[in-house]
Amino acid sequence: MDTRTTTDAQTRPNRPGQALCGLDEIPDGTAKGFDLGAGDEPLEIFVVREGPRVFAYVNVCPHTGSPLDWQPDDFMNEDGCHIMCHTHGALFEVADGFCIAGPCAGDSLTPVKVEVDGAGNVVLREAVTDGP
Ligand code: FES
Repeated sequence: MDTRTTTDAQTRPNRPGQALCGLDEIPDGTAKGFDLGAGDEPLEIFVVREGPRVFAYVNVCPHTGSPLDWQPDDFMNEDGCHIMCHTHGALFEVADGFCIAGPCAGDSLTPVKVEVDGAGNVVLREAVTDGP
């Protein structure tokens, strides 16, 4: 059973150019989750900040398909250097989502195209789908 609390995830429309938040709302070395789209089953994504750069992924672990965070916005390992699935401890590279350790080593998270616009907002570059 998924006991994760998602009440803090922020819901946004799933469309190109959609602002998710200000870059300054994601402390460096941390991540923030968002729900995209309406309805009972919005698509969950998360955005990781590494200095001025952002990287985003669908919030689905390639191991079992469960979300990576058991607490809202808790996507990183202890030192903030890697994305971590809190279900079975898989570790992923921030820049490309490649799994370097854990039960799904060699697999990858599904990337989401985001960028920081001229106003300092993290925006979706294109609408997101959860599959290939
Ligand atoms: S569900 Fe992510 S490591 Fe098992």
